Amino acid sequence: MHNENDRLHATPQTSSDVTLDAKAFRHALGTFTTGVTIVTARGQDGAPVGVTANSFNSVSMDPPLVLWSLARKSQSLAAFEQASHWAVHILAHDQGDLSGRFARSVSGPEKFEGIHCEEGLGSTPLLVGCTTRLQCRTAHIYDGGDHIILVGEVLTFDKCDAPPLVFQRGNYAIATSTAQTIMPSPGEDPRNVSEMSPLGYLLASAYLHFSTKSQEQASLLELNDVEYLIVSALGAREGRTYHELITLAAYTGRQVGPESINDLAARGLIRIDDDGEDEHYMSQNQDHAQIYLTQEGHALVSRIVSESQRVEENMMRQLGIPETIALRTLLSRFVRIHSPLIPYRWF
Ligand SMILES: Cc1cc2nc3c(=O)[nH]c(=O)nc-3n(C[C@H](O)[C@H](O)[C@H](O)COP(=O)(O)O)c2cc1C
Repeated sequence: MHNENDRLHATPQTSSDVTLDAKAFRHALGTFTTGVTIVTARGQDGAPVGVTANSFNSVSMDPPLVLWSLARKSQSLAAFEQASHWAVHILAHDQGDLSGRFARSVSGPEKFEGIHCEEGLGSTPLLVGCTTRLQCRTAHIYDGGDHIILVGEVLTFDKCDAPPLVFQRGNYAIATSTAQTIMPSPGEDPRNVSEMSPLGYLLASAYLHFSTKSQEQASLLELNDVEYLIVSALGAREGRTYHELITLAAYTGRQVGPESINDLAARGLIRIDDDGEDEHYMSQNQDHAQIYLTQEGHALVSRIVSESQRVEENMMRQLGIPETIALRTLLSRFVRIHSPLIPYRWF
């Protein structure tokens, strides 16, 4: 957590002697978090051009003006200087690859290879799947040092609900609101609800919420928690050995014994294959035997999967898409760091 003492600034960099440390200057500018856009136009030769740009900004509401800056060394410089129109695409959270493609310095048409485009004003190529698209007429072009500054009048725009992509300190990111959805009780210090809540408490509460949900589902399906775990693990990959199931269950602190396997087999949900022989029962020493789901077992797994999807979709609706993506990203990073032995997607 930051406090004001952490925020003491390092030796200031001034431009009076004109020699700013270029790397430090770039890093300093990188602390300004932005969205990511791709600006497209059509060159005089009819070829499409496009550049990833985060220098985009709004300028004026009336008239509606926006700006961005383009490096003089850009291969698309001449095309943008001469274009009567250009389009700004504010990228959606899942368009990081597209951003990477338009940040490569290759010929315009090569960047567009295999990409579906629509045609906009002034024959400008329009990319699809973006959060917002602004179609502009060139209003002014200014000198901006090693860049030119293009100001455009927005003639038309369209937008969708996809959360935007964010660029921060050289990395793609996703923005989530810091507003609290849980209100403190009267008299409670509001900070207890947010940054003061111990992380362990929050993780344990979240785990409790989800484990209660899966226990409810397991009991509806008449499975105990070990059986639920076995069936789910086989749903992710069949033919696991008894030994493998014991190891997987151990990560959750549970013990798989032959009785759970035999019970599921007796209910017709799994079958036991020992060296090509179908077995009705399994004993403790058959830990190399492979376990498969039966048709009924597959039907049960489908119910488990669709219920889990329903729970996740519900959570996404309540929490918001960017927040769910952020939570998933942070939790998988957390698990990687703190539980590196848990196999990736072990279930
Ligand atoms: C996130 C991000 C933002 C960028 N913003 C700009 C920008 O605002 N202006 C610019 O000229 N280049 C910017 N670039 C670099 C250009 O996208 C890159 O130099 C590209 O190769 C230029 O293409 P061109 O030489 O084919 O025109 C950015 C790159 C990234 C990854």
